[in-house]
Amino acid sequence: MDRIRITGGQRLNGTIPISGAKNATLPLMIASLLTDQTLILENVPRLADVGLLQRILGNHGVDIMVSGKRPGETAYDGQTLHISAANVIDTTAPYELVSRMRASFWVIAPLVARMGEARVSMPGGCAIGTRPVDLLIMALNDLGAEIEIDRGYVIARARKGLTGGSISFPKVTVGGTHTAIMAASLARGTTVIENAAREPEIADVADCLNKMGAKISGAGTARIVVEGVPRLNGARHRVLPDRIETGTYAMAVAMTGGDLLLENARAELLQAALNVLCQAGVEVTVTNAGVRVARNGAGLSPVEVATAPFPGFPTDLQAQLMALMTCAQGTSQIRETIFENRFMHVQELVRLGARIRLDGERATIEGVERLKGAPVMATDLRASVSLVIAALAAEGETMVNRVYHLDRGFERLEDKLSACGAAIERISG
Ligand code: EPU
Repeated sequence: MDRIRITGGQRLNGTIPISGAKNATLPLMIASLLTDQTLILENVPRLADVGLLQRILGNHGVDIMVSGKRPGETAYDGQTLHISAANVIDTTAPYELVSRMRASFWVIAPLVARMGEARVSMPGGCAIGTRPVDLLIMALNDLGAEIEIDRGYVIARARKGLTGGSISFPKVTVGGTHTAIMAASLARGTTVIENAAREPEIADVADCLNKMGAKISGAGTARIVVEGVPRLNGARHRVLPDRIETGTYAMAVAMTGGDLLLENARAELLQAALNVLCQAGVEVTVTNAGVRVARNGAGLSPVEVATAPFPGFPTDLQAQLMALMTCAQGTSQIRETIFENRFMHVQELVRLGARIRLDGERATIEGVERLKGAPVMATDLRASVSLVIAALAAEGETMVNRVYHLDRGFERLEDKLSACGAAIERISG
């Protein structure tokens, strides 16, 4: 199993290219199941989760071709996928695959909408909480799908197709909103989705579906209207930049000090997080090339933050912010309101010398002068990267174990950081 060795104390200076967003790429790839024509996705990041979803879609009979490199392209340019679901050979998504990546449950929506039936394993528990799928099932049910739960599988049937309806989410859910939009796109009649998630990745997927011939309005707001169409076509779409990768490197340079240009990043995708960094005393400048984040000399001020659905502070940056606040000059408070158990990084940060108290959904972080390197590990993607951020500023050496979590969501993390001065290397085996 690969590990990452970091020797802390180096400032970060230079440019980091931001990759395409993982959490847009996954639903965009799944949306390819809605049409028998080819969907071309550009700026797709090279991530383990993308590879795994390729396998899962392959199991349904989807062909995926990856374009070769064009002259002038760098190692950091995203890949272009040509995805064809002309022949769907299997409408079952088995436990072995769905349990490895929760988002693959979302195939249920295009499969039932286009094929009239889907049999998808329930994903099961995961490291950041119970994460049920009841609201995704509710949405399909509201569009007329018959739902049966049988031996760990959700079976959704709509032999005569889905019908438009009204879906009102009692809680904001990203996966529920993706599922509802995809299913409603091929339903007969109009669907109104209330209390929809407003995350930029929802708007990106809706934008791609509209290029495919769907009629979706209001994506990016809490009320989305979808007028169903009988069929969708192929299209070409460029995945938007990853706001969580952007925020992660912004926190990294805030931690170490230095000056980074986060190339291709779009500030409006993570305004809440950038505001928190400004409050902490970090310099943030928006340029034509991306977002520049710098901290030179001054200490970090503590902050009080609660995670919230977009446009609030993202839960996917909570662990990284906590790592940063371990070295603030004072006491910070962070509340996690989205997932009930997303604090696995806390005990690992404590191993590095952080002072953190947990009380239910609230973490109180008392800033310390300096962290000290130690062996650490984490059980999810964002928790792992928070340990990398802490290690970049810690005295001495930190070994981050279970690197496969990082590979799920950060493209060439150690290359991007070492090019900007970090002492970081991967140790294979
Ligand atoms: N929820 C329910 N019932 C449901 C669905 C969700 O109770 O049927 C609850 C969840 O348990 C959670 C809340 O609703 O408490 C929000 O969950 P949501 O459905 O929004 O999360 P998701 O769609 O499963 C996506 C991202 C996550 C990100 C969350 C929140 C993808 C592939 N995943 O998950 O990303 O944390 O939205 O923004 O888009 C990550 O990238 O590391 C990651 C975990």
